[in-house]
Amino acid sequence: MCGIVGFISSTEHDSNLVFNGLKNLEYRGYDSWGIVADTDQQLVDQKFLGKITSFPDQIPPSFISLGHTRWATHGGITLDNCHPHFDCHHQVALVHNGIVENYQSLQKDLKNHRILGQTDTEIIAHLIEKYRQKHNLLESVRLTFNQLHGLNAIAVMEHQNNQIIVAKNGSPLVIGLGKNANYLASDINAISNLTDQFIFLEDNWLAQITPQNVQIFDSATFKKIKYTIQKISSSLTDTDLNGYPNYLAKEIHQQFQIIKNINQQNLNQPINQILKLAQKSDQIFFTGCGSSYHAAYFNSLIVSPKINRPVYSFPASEFSPYDNFLTDKSLLVVFSQSGETIDAINLVNFAKNRGVTVASVINSPYSTLHRLADICQILPCGPEKCVLSTKTFTAQLALFLRSIGQDLTDSIFDIQQILKTRYLSKINLLAQKIASYQHIFIIARGNSLPIAHETALKIKEVSYIHAESFSGGELKHGPIALIEPGTPCIIIAPNDSHYDDIISSATEIKARGGWIIGISSKNNSVFDNYLSVSDSGLSTALSITVIAQILAGQLCQIKGYDPDKPRNLAKSVTVK
Ligand code: AGP
Repeated sequence: MCGIVGFISSTEHDSNLVFNGLKNLEYRGYDSWGIVADTDQQLVDQKFLGKITSFPDQIPPSFISLGHTRWATHGGITLDNCHPHFDCHHQVALVHNGIVENYQSLQKDLKNHRILGQTDTEIIAHLIEKYRQKHNLLESVRLTFNQLHGLNAIAVMEHQNNQIIVAKNGSPLVIGLGKNANYLASDINAISNLTDQFIFLEDNWLAQITPQNVQIFDSATFKKIKYTIQKISSSLTDTDLNGYPNYLAKEIHQQFQIIKNINQQNLNQPINQILKLAQKSDQIFFTGCGSSYHAAYFNSLIVSPKINRPVYSFPASEFSPYDNFLTDKSLLVVFSQSGETIDAINLVNFAKNRGVTVASVINSPYSTLHRLADICQILPCGPEKCVLSTKTFTAQLALFLRSIGQDLTDSIFDIQQILKTRYLSKINLLAQKIASYQHIFIIARGNSLPIAHETALKIKEVSYIHAESFSGGELKHGPIALIEPGTPCIIIAPNDSHYDDIISSATEIKARGGWIIGISSKNNSVFDNYLSVSDSGLSTALSITVIAQILAGQLCQIKGYDPDKPRNLAKSVTVK
């Protein structure tokens, strides 16, 4: 998927800054790349087909530069189609992410312009050139951007004009604030080594970036916008292991800061618009696959009472019995880390054909589920490299918990304690005892049931132990036949309305010799082992999930398997 990187500085930088930024975006996938820098004489650019292997040695040191990795959509993989693109006089340079859906009609006004390639992007540079005859660069970009249909992000520079203008709608852009320098990227990972102060641009924002200043405007009204600066430590965003033994461990540990950020961020996030949409819709469906389905299930349980409307949740692959209930008054919220899960995409395409409003909650900007959605909430997690979903799962929960007014402070503190050596050793001792068993059961009720399903999935997919989750209420309808002396049963027992019932389920299991491992905010005589969590109300689910992730990872380590790339699994299931 495409990537944008740029900087503007009061001191000269060589092309390494943009070059390294583009390399940090390689994990997104691309097929060509290019860089442009300004010099006293002219804009100098260099473009390459294929991977970022050779160095852009023709790019001189500069005060301002833009770079782009292209994943071809309109126009083949050729140098003419590679970004940056220019106007007729090579005075304006532009890089672009997204798809200009109306580029052919816009191109009709550019008959006398020399268009070199076949991309939708190139016409943007020529539109700016046209406006530039009567307007300054900022206004020219604004007028141009307002004509673009589709999900787009653009970054524009001009020869001897000490500013970069950016605008976005639906395709992410972030500005990094430095000392006498400012940076921009489509993905925080490209510039997180340069600063920890970021401005995440929202849809229809237009920004004028100089070495000392960033001004943001509403692109339609040109009114100045007061923006917030987010402090995000680089440990959250870079894709190196940073001393962790594997990505699973690293990404489990990142959850403390991610959930802390979610708890602190301003609430004018798309997630709140999604909730408002839910309140106005006739039917509300939450869906996803795997862990993302578990997030959909949990969030449906906590949102429903908040908006006083039923919220239905089903795995995307099992949605067809409900197809006929999808109408133009329905809301479908799809959860997905990759944004490329085929079952979710197929359901979304079907729903859109029925006029359904689609919202997506994803971790991958530019992905298909980003482009297809009418409204999209990007998870503030940075790339998740381990096949197991961990930080993206808890972020999907934390965003909704926060949006229904839950303060996550207690669970953040709890997670911090769980991630400390003392607690980790306690989980490890338990893992040592469990590792030799072939079957583990996880039992819960109510809001904890999706967490039990997620616990079972984590254990299954990384330790290959058969782990089965079920409702305590279902125990006597069959599963209790599986209990033998010593069978390990994890009982998830937060301090909620189901506590007494889940304890009685534990008692029934214990009466048949089952081994009871309690995860709860209070110990109980029925527990043979006890892992404590603080009572954080609905957000106790976050602490319990982190315990489950750690337990699964430690079972994997004991059994000597690969924690990041378990057998038979892919990070994204893009084929049925
Ligand atoms: C979760 O640990 C697994 N990696 C898997 O269940 C995953 O959640 C599922 O394939 C959905 O992927 P998505 O979130 O990218 O849509």
